[in-house]
Amino acid sequence: MSEPRTAVELDQEAAVRRELEDYYRAGRPPWDSGVTPPELVAMVAGPDGLPPGRALELGCGTGTNAVYLARHGWRVAAVDLVDRAVRQAREKAAAAGVDVTVLCGDATRLDEVGVPGPYELFFDLSCYCGIPPHRRDAYAAGLTRRAAPGATLLMFGYGPEAFDDPISGVTADELEARFAGWRLVDVTPGTNPVPTFWFTLRRAAMA
Ligand SMILES: C[S@@+](CC[C@H](N)C(=O)[O-])C[C@H]1O[C@@H](n2cnc3c(N)ncnc32)[C@H](O)[C@@H]1O
Repeated sequence: MSEPRTAVELDQEAAVRRELEDYYRAGRPPWDSGVTPPELVAMVAGPDGLPPGRALELGCGTGTNAVYLARHGWRVAAVDLVDRAVRQAREKAAAAGVDVTVLCGDATRLDEVGVPGPYELFFDLSCYCGIPPHRRDAYAAGLTRRAAPGATLLMFGYGPEAFDDPISGVTADELEARFAGWRLVDVTPGTNPVPTFWFTLRRAAMA
């Protein structure tokens, strides 16, 4: 069921979408490094790596990390708001010869996307921190409903100080407050010149 939205909220969502579409329309966006971050590599292939299971990537862009997960034995679904990114992600998966379900949709409206789960791993590289505040509860609820017992959410996000606008960015306090039934088990600062963080949240083993 969709809830009524104010004009300001609708404007915020439209502005975010427009900006993202412009980035992809202009060519290769600045974040599209084609390199899987070491934090995800450690979680998947490190000495204490998770056993392969089902993964959902939120804001997958052109699919570098979804393909990485699939190559490491995960059954992967990946979602992005921008259809150009989705098309490129599908091409990347096909070129790599891996099976990834890439869907165009809103990470805060997963019921409309067709990713029922459950998932043992959620991965978000800089998607949540750009989501307007009024959609963030829906994002958390969508993941929580799809989380297998003991599921992990690995999220990279920019701190609010990194943005000029007042609505972007993410903090540990916010995640702790918003993700009921999850535990924030690690916060590791990123290496960027502005404040960034790798957050690891874990869903209770018995939900
Ligand atoms: C900073 S980019 C990172 C992309 C990709 N994770 C990577 O590392 O290359 C954030 C991505 O999240 C997507 N995104 C932002 N808001 C979204 C939403 N509400 N639902 C789905 N995708 C979203 C954007 O289109 C963009 O591809």
